[in-house]
Amino acid sequence: MTDKRQILIAGNWKMHKTQEEARILVREILRGLTYGIKAEVMVAPPYTSLAAVAAELAGSAIRLAAQDAFWKPQGAYTGAISPVMLADAGCHYVIVGHSERRQHFGDTNQDVNRKLLAVLEAGLIPILCIGETIEERQAEKTLHVVAAQLREGLAGLSGEARDRLVIAYEPVWAIGTGLTATPGQAQEVHAFIRSLLREVLGPAAETTRILYGGSVTPDNAATLLSEPDIDGALVGGASLKADSFLKIIAAGG
Ligand code: 13P
Repeated sequence: MTDKRQILIAGNWKMHKTQEEARILVREILRGLTYGIKAEVMVAPPYTSLAAVAAELAGSAIRLAAQDAFWKPQGAYTGAISPVMLADAGCHYVIVGHSERRQHFGDTNQDVNRKLLAVLEAGLIPILCIGETIEERQAEKTLHVVAAQLREGLAGLSGEARDRLVIAYEPVWAIGTGLTATPGQAQEVHAFIRSLLREVLGPAAETTRILYGGSVTPDNAATLLSEPDIDGALVGGASLKADSFLKIIAAGG
């Protein structure tokens, strides 16, 4: 957390919520938001609820996001959704490279890079997720893995796009497990990511937000966010209930 970067509290709903459940949740979040919160807030419902949530969010400051996108603008790609369609649906952000996409759907660093560039091309802001598995951490390969994901994920970036990026560090072993990286462990990797961003982005690295994700809760959010290079949270389970999500938003200042 630093004055140079506005905290972003992002809820990734994953494969949860029917349209009606999504409407109820977003109404509860809107009702519970207090005036004067400093954090930017974002929610990423599943595709089927984007329109319903966009309608609820109209006129509010909460940003809409998608959880993934294909890299082509349109075409014969059954089952896929393009960044152009997501812009049309009212999205502002698109998550790319989430570890669940990498694990269950085979997304490679090259795929993630194509998605990231396509999201930028459509005028949206990508949230690039990177992070190591427990085996990689135990083998002391964390920084190596994160560096490759970051460099390959950001390949071919145009100068203008350097200011339109968000990075999320999500250690795979901390996702949905209740095992959170300690603030010290997270800060070490976030500082490393920012040092790499300085090489890739130049001065834009100072204003690029690096979110932490992995079992963020109302109990641990404030200490994580007090670290100098942790600029927000990408929240899974705790974003599915208004009460816990609102507490994490409040922890953002
Ligand atoms: P949890 O908060 O449920 O661990 O999920 C984190 C995550 O994957 C957010 O993208």
